[in-house]
Amino acid sequence: MPKTIIVSNRMSTSVSRSADGFVYTPSVGGLATGLSPLHESEDSIWIGWSGLPSDSMTDDERRTVAEHLRTEHKCVTVDITSDQLERFYYGFCNNVVWPLFHYFPTYPTYDPDLWAAYVDVNAAFFDRVRRHIEPGDVVWVHDYQLMLLPALIKEHEPDSRVGFFLHIPFPSYELFRLLPWRAEVLRGLLGADLVGFHTFDYVRHFLSSVRRLLGYDHDMAYIRYENRMVRADVFPMGIDYDRYASASSTPSVRRKIDEVHADRRVDKLILSVDRLDYTKGIPQRLRAFERYLEKYSPSAGSVALVIIVSPSRTAVVQYQELKREVDELVSRINGRFSTIAWTPVQYFYRTFSFEDLSALYAEADVLLVTALRDGMNLIAKEYVAAREGRTGVLVLSETAGVARELSEAIIVNPSSVEEIADGLQRAIVMPDDEQMRRNVRMQDRLKRYDIHYWANDFMTKLEATIEHQQSFLGKRLSGSVRRRFRDAYRSAQKRLLLLDYDGTLLDYMDRADEALPDADLRSLIRSLANDTRNDVVLVSSRGRDFMSEHLEDLPIGLIASHGASIRVDGSWEQIIPVDDQWKEHLAPIMQLYADRTPGSRFEEKELSLAWHYRGSDPDLAAVRVAELKDALISMIANHNLTVFDGNRVLEVKSSLVGKAQAAARWYAHDEYDFIMAVGDDPTDEELFAAAPESAWSVRVGLGPTNAHYFIESPAQLRTMLEELA
Ligand code: G6P
Repeated sequence: MPKTIIVSNRMSTSVSRSADGFVYTPSVGGLATGLSPLHESEDSIWIGWSGLPSDSMTDDERRTVAEHLRTEHKCVTVDITSDQLERFYYGFCNNVVWPLFHYFPTYPTYDPDLWAAYVDVNAAFFDRVRRHIEPGDVVWVHDYQLMLLPALIKEHEPDSRVGFFLHIPFPSYELFRLLPWRAEVLRGLLGADLVGFHTFDYVRHFLSSVRRLLGYDHDMAYIRYENRMVRADVFPMGIDYDRYASASSTPSVRRKIDEVHADRRVDKLILSVDRLDYTKGIPQRLRAFERYLEKYSPSAGSVALVIIVSPSRTAVVQYQELKREVDELVSRINGRFSTIAWTPVQYFYRTFSFEDLSALYAEADVLLVTALRDGMNLIAKEYVAAREGRTGVLVLSETAGVARELSEAIIVNPSSVEEIADGLQRAIVMPDDEQMRRNVRMQDRLKRYDIHYWANDFMTKLEATIEHQQSFLGKRLSGSVRRRFRDAYRSAQKRLLLLDYDGTLLDYMDRADEALPDADLRSLIRSLANDTRNDVVLVSSRGRDFMSEHLEDLPIGLIASHGASIRVDGSWEQIIPVDDQWKEHLAPIMQLYADRTPGSRFEEKELSLAWHYRGSDPDLAAVRVAELKDALISMIANHNLTVFDGNRVLEVKSSLVGKAQAAARWYAHDEYDFIMAVGDDPTDEELFAAAPESAWSVRVGLGPTNAHYFIESPAQLRTMLEELA
């Protein structure tokens, strides 16, 4: 039976050492708490780090811990030494990626030594995966500590099914580009078949980084990456809803609730729960609570803030500084407002068990989340679930991923102390029926899209992505298909080879006039054409002049100007009458767009006008393409002209002209027992569509196409043609 292999730095269980031996406790943080219920209920193994450096244990101890984790928790450990812990975990993960991805660009130190440790530890994780993976298994890699792992798995196990989920924000391109190893990280992630994020914004940022930094385009969130289709999609992580909603009716939680209730001295209890992390906005929250006390002067003893902070990453300097700041703020506020009977801030610097936390959720009237940045924030979801059938108000930061889903909360800007203070006041005076109404809406959503739904949704999309990929891969001109193709070529008596020029035989250049046929290409075409069984025809949108200048000496047919002119047996023939009057009306507009869009270029061809934007900022170009297309379409009505998108070019030509009409001249001959038509861009699609059913139509580059087959690149096409020649 295929299983799921969950891989993440932290597993559901963490190990620590006490005087009495090893202690096994549930890990803190969204990832571990979120995935644990899944791991418990599924046929899965979890590969990760135990929480202790491997060299802090004897061989025997290491074996004992590994054995315990394996048999009791279905966990497989990866050894991480103290040195790796320092450079990989504290260094690269939590001092480079974490701050950068959470919009703290001044924190990271981009030290190549830290990067080297990141590479090594990812390889160590791969080693473990490799030992446990079996055919059919799904590997689900999690989070920012393991962004290189998907590509390692794909490279060594090409048939594997790999999903990746990022639990933290994916930052805007402007931030991500600061990372010196940005391309490596993107390539690492693109090893996965499906890359998941909590919100659509993160998907957008990721796609934009892939396009800008690696040059790979996407189509409906499918990225055409080398010879695969990688999908990026949104999966807002859910919680184990029923567990939180029903917690207060379990006897152990009931008892805790009674205790908290008996000890509680205030009317309104505001709760906040986080790991100690500068991304969580804890000082801002304390200041906002102070401001609330100042501004709204609640009577002494009527309100308290219970703030729970779990110790985290204590070796990182910013976390130590933050700890000091929080300690100081708490004592300042209490020093300022406390009475003998009332302590406005009750501060706990430790981790709470599920039972203790559930009791507090049940007792708290308000949950205050003020993260400056947070991938998701599951605490907010847990609180809302725990309030089923009850009042309770969520005050929520707009920059936490969860704000995208819980819009019924009181949404605040976490940098504005004033806004949070006002939000608290609104929460405290909100009528009960309004609280209930808002909660029911959020609960309905969380109940449906819970952790199980989330995981199923991810797995279903992963399967669909793989199927989609296979439907493409099945069209790849390689392996046995390639052998059939060669046999067909060899045994044919009369062959037609219709070959597009730019993007097919040659890579695109930033400037079209630089894309000249090199000596190798010329000799390849010549040797194909010298075979008397072959008719070779080169097809292009370029004009007669260019084709004549560079290709006329070859014994081949030519189709120029998108099919307006053809050269057969050495002489040119205009197959549609030249009408280029229209050009003078449209040229100035297209020239204007070229001037307004850095990196783009206007080209006047014999029978068409083109605006090339290959060298432009892709996002700016997308906007300009839409505008220019609109402008052109409104001008060409009733003129037998058409505007079309090529490969990063917008072009206008006569609608009477087409590559297919020109190719018909050759297709119509019935002497051919082998026809091959190769092209790469939308104008070649008509060439494929018009080809006889038995033809070998081939698209260069992956993507939706009328062609029966595809091949990766011009270089691969040339290798294949050389084999034939
Ligand atoms: C966040 C991250 C997790 C991480 C957790 C706790 O939720 O997304 O990957 O495990 O914080 O942090 P720690 O450094 O203790 O693993």
